[in-house]
Amino acid sequence: MGRERAGVLISFEGVEKVGKTTQIGRLAAWLRSRKLTVRVVREPGGTMLGESLRSLLLHSGEIKSAKAELLLFAAARAELVTQIIIPSLNQGEVVILDRFSDSSVAYQGFGRGLDVQWIQMLNEEVTEGIRPDITFLLQGSSFGQGDDKIETSGQEFFERVRTGYSKMVAEDPSRWHMISSARPVDDVAKDIQKVVMAYLWGQDDMDR
Ligand code: TMP
Repeated sequence: MGRERAGVLISFEGVEKVGKTTQIGRLAAWLRSRKLTVRVVREPGGTMLGESLRSLLLHSGEIKSAKAELLLFAAARAELVTQIIIPSLNQGEVVILDRFSDSSVAYQGFGRGLDVQWIQMLNEEVTEGIRPDITFLLQGSSFGQGDDKIETSGQEFFERVRTGYSKMVAEDPSRWHMISSARPVDDVAKDIQKVVMAYLWGQDDMDR
């Protein structure tokens, strides 16, 4: 399994409240039932630094500069890559990421208006050039309303974030898989499993 490395990296992207966490749990359980070792991590988070930065970024209201916001997300990512992603991939594990580099492009680039090329360069550095093998873009009917700092950025912000995601899908259609999550959870989970199955075993036979 995997093409260029021992493990496999799968990321989930999308605006808030489209069911990422539910589907990540379903995919992890399904892969574990097939005897694969699965590691699930969220961004920002997954390490001590990442979890501290998560509460600073999302709940403190202290970060006013979009550039500072980007750099803190990038710092959390660098730590996650070093502590978890690289070691897990080297062990041949399946790593499932609840958000990764693409979130910075969508939110800080398209959403906040920072230079997308600069963000891509920064991502390349902090991830050591690691990109997901498969990225799912979940699309629901939500506009991301919620109560943390990013979730309260407004409808126009989330329109820009969605546009950003659409552009990324168009630029790299072999990695991205758009999945409508405005459907029963089981149907969404099956569509995700089919994509992963085809990647891992070159087939979409759900009885395997
Ligand atoms: P979530 O994991 O519950 O979706 O919350 C993470 C929030 O942080 C979400 O609003 C998206 C945002 N975010 C960014 O703005 N940039 C990033 O690089 C990442 C990883 C997340």
